[in-house]
Amino acid sequence: MEKNRITELFGIKYPIVQGGMVWCSGWRLASAVSNAGGLGLLGAGSMHPETLEENIAKMKEATDKPWGVNVPLMYPEIDRLMKLIIDSGVKIVFTSAGSPKKFTPMLHEAGITVVHVVSSSKFARKCEEAGVDAIVAEGFEAGGHNGREETTTMTLIPQVRRATSLPLIAAGGIASGEAILASMVLGAEGVQIGTLFALTEESSASEAFKQRCISTEEGDTMLCLKKIAPTRLIKNSLYDKVKEAEDGGASADDLRAILGKAASKRGIFEGDIDSGELEIGQIASAIKAVRPVAEVMKELVDGVERAKEKIM
Ligand SMILES: Cc1cc2nc3c(=O)[nH]c(=O)nc-3n(C[C@H](O)[C@H](O)[C@H](O)COP(=O)(O)O)c2cc1C
Repeated sequence: MEKNRITELFGIKYPIVQGGMVWCSGWRLASAVSNAGGLGLLGAGSMHPETLEENIAKMKEATDKPWGVNVPLMYPEIDRLMKLIIDSGVKIVFTSAGSPKKFTPMLHEAGITVVHVVSSSKFARKCEEAGVDAIVAEGFEAGGHNGREETTTMTLIPQVRRATSLPLIAAGGIASGEAILASMVLGAEGVQIGTLFALTEESSASEAFKQRCISTEEGDTMLCLKKIAPTRLIKNSLYDKVKEAEDGGASADDLRAILGKAASKRGIFEGDIDSGELEIGQIASAIKAVRPVAEVMKELVDGVERAKEKIM
C-alpha cells in the first residue's frame, strides 16, 4: 500500500486505523495493531481515568510505534480525561459523539493530532471549521454508536469527499482488502476498522461475545435506541424488549430503564449474551474465526494487492 496523507499524518506504514471500542480496545489490541503497521487506538469510552492511565503506561512499554486514544465526547469526566491525555504525552486523539469545537484548540496547543468521527457531510464541514487534522466518516453498517440518518458507507464517502478537503478515513463495514480498496476508490485515504478487530484474540471482549458475533448471519444486527444514541445491536432478549418498547413509543427514560446499568459491559466484556447489550457491526456475519491481529493485518494488506490485480 502506498504512502499517502493518512500514513504521513500519523507516521504509520499502512493507512489502517483500529477504531476505539468500548470494552474491546485496551493496550493489548491497540499495541498489536500499531506493531503490525496500523494505528492502534485505546478506547477511553469504557475506562475510568485511572484505568486509562494504566493502559497508557502499558502501551508505552508494548510498542514504540505511533498510537492514539479515542474519546467519546459525552464521557462524564471529560475535562479530567483530557487533562490526563495531555499530561501523559499522548500524540494522537480521535474524538467522537459530540462537537469537536471545544477540545480541538486545547489539544492542538498541546501538539496533539486531532481526528473527529462524523456520519454526514454536514458534520464533516463543521469539523473543517473546528480545525481538526482529519476525519473519519462512518457509515450505517458500523458497530457501536451510529448516525441518525442511516447513510451507508458507500453513499457517505463520495459525498464527504466532495464536502471537505480534509484527509479522509472511511469506516463502516470494512473487513477485507477488497473493501479497503473500494473505500480508497470512493475517495478515502485510509480506513477505520472496528468489528474485525473487536473479534481478534487481543480484543478484551469476552470469548462468549466473540463467538456469538462470528456466528451471526446477515440481518442479525439492527440499529436501535435512536432516542438515546443510535446503536447497532445483535438481536437477543434485551434487543426484543427495546424493539417492543420503541414500537410502542417508549421515551428515552423508558429505554434507559430497560437497558439498566452497564448494559454494554455486561454484553461485551462479561459475555451476558442473552440480556446484555451486544454492540457489533453488520460485517460480523462475514467473519468466521477469532484470529491474532498480526494474521488479520497481513490478510488485509495482502488483500488490497490481490484486489488491485483482480480489477486490472
Ligand atoms: C464493540 C464496539 C464498540 C465501539 N465503541 C466505540 C467507542 O467507544 N468510540 C467510538 O468512537 N467508536 C466506537 N465504535 C465504532 C468503531 O470505532 C468503528 O468506527 C466502527 O466499528 C467501524 O465500523 P465496523 O464495525 O463496521 O468496522 C465501536 C464499535 C464496536 C464494534
